[in-house]
Amino acid sequence: MREELLAFVSERGTLLEPDAVEFLLVQRDPIAELDGFLRSCPETPFVVTLEDIRHAGEIAQQALRPRTPLDLRPVAVVATPSASFRRLGEKAADGHPDVRILRDITGRSTCEGTLEDFTRYFRHRFQVLRGMLRQRRELAGAQDIAKARRSTREVRIIGMVADIRTTKNGHRILELEDELERIAVLLPAESAVAQEPVVSDEVLGVVGTVNAKGLVIAASLVRPDLPTAKPFPGTLGHARVAFMSDIHVGSRTFLEEKWSKVSEWLGGADEVARSIRYLVVSGDVVDGIGVYPRQDEELTIDDIYGQYEALARMIAALPDRLAVVMLPGNHDAVRPAEPQPAFPMSIQKLFDSNVIFAGNPSLLSLEGVRVLAYHGRSMDDLVSAIPGLSYQRPLDGMKAMLRLRHLAPIYGGKTPIAPEAEDHLIIDEIPDIFVTGHVHAVGVDQYRGVVLVNSSTWQAQTPYQKMRNIDPTPARLPIVDLGTGQAIIREF
Ligand SMILES: [Fe+2]
Ligand SMILES: [Fe+2]
Repeated sequence: MREELLAFVSERGTLLEPDAVEFLLVQRDPIAELDGFLRSCPETPFVVTLEDIRHAGEIAQQALRPRTPLDLRPVAVVATPSASFRRLGEKAADGHPDVRILRDITGRSTCEGTLEDFTRYFRHRFQVLRGMLRQRRELAGAQDIAKARRSTREVRIIGMVADIRTTKNGHRILELEDELERIAVLLPAESAVAQEPVVSDEVLGVVGTVNAKGLVIAASLVRPDLPTAKPFPGTLGHARVAFMSDIHVGSRTFLEEKWSKVSEWLGGADEVARSIRYLVVSGDVVDGIGVYPRQDEELTIDDIYGQYEALARMIAALPDRLAVVMLPGNHDAVRPAEPQPAFPMSIQKLFDSNVIFAGNPSLLSLEGVRVLAYHGRSMDDLVSAIPGLSYQRPLDGMKAMLRLRHLAPIYGGKTPIAPEAEDHLIIDEIPDIFVTGHVHAVGVDQYRGVVLVNSSTWQAQTPYQKMRNIDPTPARLPIVDLGTGQAIIREF
């Protein structure tokens, strides 16, 4: 039963606290019990605690008690935010905000785009990711390609994927490169490895054997990945962080009414709203100018500074207790190549002092909780390279990034990458929260202890999206508790 219950939980995209698992397993029908609870929640909670289930059970039991004729109203089970998310009576707005930018490119860009820059960039990418792969037990004693080529026993090699092709028999062949050599790796059509998605320019490990033609026959592929789940560090305080992106101010499809609603809620008396101390805004904050052909027909503000001024007024109207961290996206007025630096002073000076400007991507610390914020442009490339990925399921794309330990593994696609001396898009330090935007969808999840957030949009479907059948999920606000890592999504 335990397996069935856990399979059901994962299928529903939530997590169960161990206590809640044990509690459910002694119920008459654990799955029905949990299903009933989840149905009572307007949004699937990130984690279901024992307290949540018990609380819902008590309400359900009260509902079963005989009623007096006057008591005919249906009993409402309101579980968003869930009982455990809402900690009554806390004062979260005490103390100063504690935001630090631990890492971003701002002020540290050195590249000029020369051939040497590219060579250095890829060497850095390879060396760092190879270092991570060497930590993996499966790759202990990994050899250079040159040495492995002459081996007659099992080989373990690490390389960057230079090419991927499929033969007419359905085998897949990867060209794998290290600093000195290149070798062909065969993923036999009938094997499980042939089903594993592989993308160009990722760095991976291969365990296999070398055949007489010098071809490696892969038995397994190894990704840098994250180590096993780590606990959420948690803060002593009770602050929460909300996430936004893709506001697209200046666009005809910017949702002004929805914005008024969220702005009002953030400034209102709701306990969860009052506990939000941080707002991370991950790019495409305005619609920009000349980002795509005939964009001028889609704009209500056709001056770039005018767009940022309007946004600055909207942000200034939010409550003062909010520390806002803002990074650029592909619609914003900084260089499009990633890593993108923070906004220039000419834009920063339009905003109040409670706004902190960071690059894209950036690793932030909010009261010691590490947040990796990335706009998410590379999702455009991942969606076309990994079968089964879609714009509606960005969290799967984020998990792929974590497995590959790289925010934009594919070079030369839609994501422009600047060849900096170091590859800033490597996921070097493991964050506690990982947030992306760009795809105008929304979701919260977790992967090996990292809380994942995709941060919605404040723009309705654009004619371009309509043409491409992209159905956005606007006006949702993901909120994460910095004490527990628990995440919810609030709809406006
Ligand atoms: Fe966007
Ligand atoms: Fe974007």
